[in-house]
Amino acid sequence: MKIISSISELRETLAPLRKQGKKIGLVPTMGALHEGHASLIDHSSAECDVTVVSVFLNPIQFGKNEDLDKYPRRLQADAKLAEEHGGTFVFAPSVSEMYPNGDPLTLIRDESLEGLYCGSYRPGHFRGVLTVVAKLFLISCADVAFFGEKDYQQVFLIEQMVRDLNFPIKIVRVPIVREPSGLARSSRNEYLTAEEKNLALGISRGLLAAKSAFDAGERNVDNIRNIVKQSIASNGGTVQYVEVASQATLAALDGSATIGEKVVILVAAFFGTTRLIDNIEL
Ligand code: PAJ
Repeated sequence: MKIISSISELRETLAPLRKQGKKIGLVPTMGALHEGHASLIDHSSAECDVTVVSVFLNPIQFGKNEDLDKYPRRLQADAKLAEEHGGTFVFAPSVSEMYPNGDPLTLIRDESLEGLYCGSYRPGHFRGVLTVVAKLFLISCADVAFFGEKDYQQVFLIEQMVRDLNFPIKIVRVPIVREPSGLARSSRNEYLTAEEKNLALGISRGLLAAKSAFDAGERNVDNIRNIVKQSIASNGGTVQYVEVASQATLAALDGSATIGEKVVILVAAFFGTTRLIDNIEL
């Protein structure tokens, strides 16, 4: 597996392939790859001739007190996993390659949702995500990019950016990959102790219980939210938010509202000091 660390080398490598008419897929990641990332790479290698897996721990999307320093880093293992799933190249630039002049002065921010859900607890997070994703789109000139529904607000904002700014790229959403227990796979699951990992099932079980209630006819937003909140709290987790949002606009529904459209339950919760997110569409 070829690991490319310079922007110019990636461009020079991809240009002739693009000229030959090869379809180029991009899978942006921050590394510490797991089965969730693998599914994105599988989707790309099934649809595209060339799959670029980017591994870049993007500092500008982390807050000052967040986990940038302790985030797991293991590029060689990542390259191996990428290769096993049909990746063609790993693009792993350094921070100075991506941001040679320090933090960029031109940033992409969304005006509607960046202060909601994860955005309200992680100020500047989505600005950092959209900016680096836009850079990766422009550097790779990929035809298709693959993102997980695990980060529901993220993929929504990326699709919106692509529409608003006319990026010539197709975005593919890939369903959440879970551990057999139901826990959504995440690089941050490595922070959990065995006991916390077990307790964290309160999130996925709560989401499934809420979906069962919905399927049985429950339509009140607060009742749906409370099922999830109670499941997390009774397992010792601390809820950061549980919201029911429109799938079309990602606007939150009022607690007293009756669900009459396609919605998604969005959750963030702490188990110990680890912050986990998850969601389920209804
Ligand atoms: P990261 O957390 O490494 O995730 C990379 C991609 O893998 C994202 O699209 C994410 O939604 C997807 N993913 C993670 N866990 C998943 C799971 N359990 N099932 C399905 N997909 C999963 O998200 C980021 O990195 C960064 O914000 C990035 C987009 C790379 C920009 O820096």
